[in-house]
Amino acid sequence: MLKGVKTLIPIVLLIQFLSVHAEPDAVAGVESLTPEIRLLLSQEMIAIQNGMMAIIPANASGNTRKIATIAKEIKDSYILQQNLTPEQKHELHTKLPRSFIQLDKKFHYYAGMLEHVAEEKKHELIGFYFTKMAESCSQCHSRHAKHRFPEFANNKAATTGHAH
Ligand code: HEC
Repeated sequence: MLKGVKTLIPIVLLIQFLSVHAEPDAVAGVESLTPEIRLLLSQEMIAIQNGMMAIIPANASGNTRKIATIAKEIKDSYILQQNLTPEQKHELHTKLPRSFIQLDKKFHYYAGMLEHVAEEKKHELIGFYFTKMAESCSQCHSRHAKHRFPEFANNKAATTGHAH
């Protein structure tokens, strides 16, 4: 189900890499991507969304092993990095907007924590980290994907004080 999810992070990094020379704003960068990469990113996002939705019934039925598996798949989304040279990786790390890196890191940190607390069967913490992950969606979209989610254009609530 989450087959494509492992490519999310490098795609996100690549987006920033491609956008950084012409345009410091991540929104223009995403929109200027090649159709191939836009498609990949969409597929990753949909896979993540499907994973998030699948966590609801797994949680409701006490299937913590399934939650841990899904969370791990989201956390380990790094496969495209294998196609990047060390120089490219370095450049990505030095040139990416800090806010995007932070949101991306935070999202994957929460996925890792969800995996951990699911393995430990800590039900309250499962809810906590699931919520944190869900907040990350709207935080990133409200700053970096307004073109795709125009409801965020006039809605500052989701940005929770991350002034640019
Ligand atoms: C660090 C940034 C970031 C995070 C975190 C993030 N997204 Fe996204 N997402 C984006 C960007 C950027 C786009 C727009 C991509 C484009 O326009 O090509 C997007 C697009 C999407 C889309 C639209 C895909 C399509 O083309 O139909 C969905 C669905 C989506 N995200 C779901 C989620 C969910 C659910 C979460 C959280 C569990 C999430 N995203 C977390 C950056 C992020």
